[in-house]
Amino acid sequence: MPRHVVATTAEIRPGERKIVEIDGRSIGVFNVDGRFYALRNQCPHAGAQLCEGTLSGLVTSTAPGEYDYARSGEILRCPWHGWEFDIATGRSWFDPARTRVRAYEATVEPGDALSDEELGAAGYEPGPYTAQRYAVEVDREFVVVHV
Ligand code: FES
Repeated sequence: MPRHVVATTAEIRPGERKIVEIDGRSIGVFNVDGRFYALRNQCPHAGAQLCEGTLSGLVTSTAPGEYDYARSGEILRCPWHGWEFDIATGRSWFDPARTRVRAYEATVEPGDALSDEELGAAGYEPGPYTAQRYAVEVDREFVVVHV
């Protein structure tokens, strides 16, 4: 599956997102406590820009007056009508078997694992091939979406 460099890890801090365009598709890339997720930025209900929605967690209850809050930042609510999706899987909360948004694999890779073409296509300078450049690239990690 083709890889697309979309950001450095420093550009998408925990709790933040970046919306990118890959092969004509708008995709939201999210950082949830250092884990990266990528979702198609189109709600399956009526086409809203889903990835501009609010992130929240899950509230569960075992008895009246008792509740737990879990998975903070992993549930994405559509800004138009409030449908909710799990950003890890793209499945909707209300009908996970049938209603979902496309989720893509997102990985974090060191700069020296990426080719100059991959970095250049994303607008990053590959730099000269010197020992000094190598030291800089080893310290940087990039978020890569597999579309
Ligand atoms: S367009 Fe997303 S819930 Fe309606």
